[in-house]
Amino acid sequence: MLAPMTHPHEHAFGVDVGGSGIKGALVDLMTGEFVGQRYVVDTPQPATPDAVAATVARIVDDAGWDGPVGVALPSVIREQVAVTAANIDPAWIGTNCHDLLTRHLGERPLAILNDADAAGLAEVAHGVDEARRGSVIFLTFGTGIGSAFFAHGALFSNTELGHLLIDGTEAERLASSAAKVRDGLGFAAWASRVDTVLAEFERLFNPSAFIVGGGISTDAGQWLPHLSIRTPVLPARLRNRAGVVGAAMAAAHHVTP
Ligand code: BGC
Repeated sequence: MLAPMTHPHEHAFGVDVGGSGIKGALVDLMTGEFVGQRYVVDTPQPATPDAVAATVARIVDDAGWDGPVGVALPSVIREQVAVTAANIDPAWIGTNCHDLLTRHLGERPLAILNDADAAGLAEVAHGVDEARRGSVIFLTFGTGIGSAFFAHGALFSNTELGHLLIDGTEAERLASSAAKVRDGLGFAAWASRVDTVLAEFERLFNPSAFIVGGGISTDAGQWLPHLSIRTPVLPARLRNRAGVVGAAMAAAHHVTP
């Protein structure tokens, strides 16, 4: 298949690897919009580095893309090496993701970064104005809880607030969207757990705003009104597109946390 003819920095391909699904799309870097088809495939189980990288390569190949590729992972990524692996196979720990993806995708600009950092970067570039002002904590609610800290739009990478212990329980075990499903909670009951978690983040970090993304941000109207914390909580504008867009941006701009 022929690759789309574009200026090197006009488009890049973003992939967001989640616990259950892998999403990918070619992204217009000026607008943050997808160009053409959005690809969604089940995450291979077990989600080992080679199985996931082979799936990423298949998506990129199907799209006929031979330019930069960014991949967002639910891991702390330091100098392209996965340092943690939550909601993904433990074999990722210690994997040099750049080498792995080069083996599967060939030599090209590649970037690997934490999924919440990717989503936050996309929101800062293309989302709500508040994301670019003050000290903002961006959170994603999905299989886990991802976090990204921004001071006036600049990322402090690899924060892991989802694993903060609240009364002895990890925040994400209490209040991720997976926890809502697992414990059969309605929006009000789940929102009260989110409130507990955000109150603790507020007490420790005093951000100017929380911005909430992930699939559940689509239903923000059903749970945001139940929150009682002082800090403004705003739904992300890019919803669950953000991880893919941020991964593509990282590849084009050579972001290496
Ligand atoms: C992981 C984070 C990730 C978040 C959202 C957490 O379990 O530790 O690295 O950002 O899930 O996927």
